[in-house]
Amino acid sequence: MSVPPPPPFRRPGFRTRVLPVIVITDVAQAVPLAEALLAGGIDAMEITLRHAAGLPAIEAVARAVPQVHVGAGTVTRAPELAQVRDAGATFALSPGCTKALASAAIELGLPFIPGAMTPGEVMQLRDHGFGLLKLFPAEQAGGLGMLKALAGPLPDMAFCPTGGVSPANLADFLRQPNVAMVGGSWLTPRDLVEAGRWPEITRLARQACEVADGLI
Ligand code: 3PG
Repeated sequence: MSVPPPPPFRRPGFRTRVLPVIVITDVAQAVPLAEALLAGGIDAMEITLRHAAGLPAIEAVARAVPQVHVGAGTVTRAPELAQVRDAGATFALSPGCTKALASAAIELGLPFIPGAMTPGEVMQLRDHGFGLLKLFPAEQAGGLGMLKALAGPLPDMAFCPTGGVSPANLADFLRQPNVAMVGGSWLTPRDLVEAGRWPEITRLARQACEVADGLI
């Protein structure tokens, strides 16, 4: 049996191992939010397509804050991949995956982090060539225990657990060898974003970076 080539995109092109998962409800929030995260040391963000403001927010950040790698989240339909790429997203994520999504990402050459929560899904995505997957919803999938269990039979796969990650368990997740990065909404609480309380977002980002950097 031949050994398959290592899956691509095990590590995205940004520095942070903590990826904020964001619902933007007003495009005017996007640029100051990106700047606040960057000031706290976070150079990537996942702006979800869960609100109509998501796509223009991606466009605004890509244009105004090029130091931040803007990713599109909650991409669940294949045509959305070209839309987010055209808006300036440099990578995309999905809570799951379909054949159409996987094919579109490969065809576009857009770095893509599809979601999985079972070993079978992980294996299917590895067959498509994906090496970094979003474990989603991470807590419900079994959290750290699930990641440890996956590392045995599927040691070549890396994960971005999302769903249930918090300051309380961040270090535990980041210490797990098959965790490349984590995603979470705690860095950008909706009330702080909607009130424009950017220094508090910067503080949350800095705290998370201190945890991540303390593990290096
Ligand atoms: C997501 O929206 O992708 C995750 O559900 C975020 O989960 P969290 O709110 O537990 O961080």
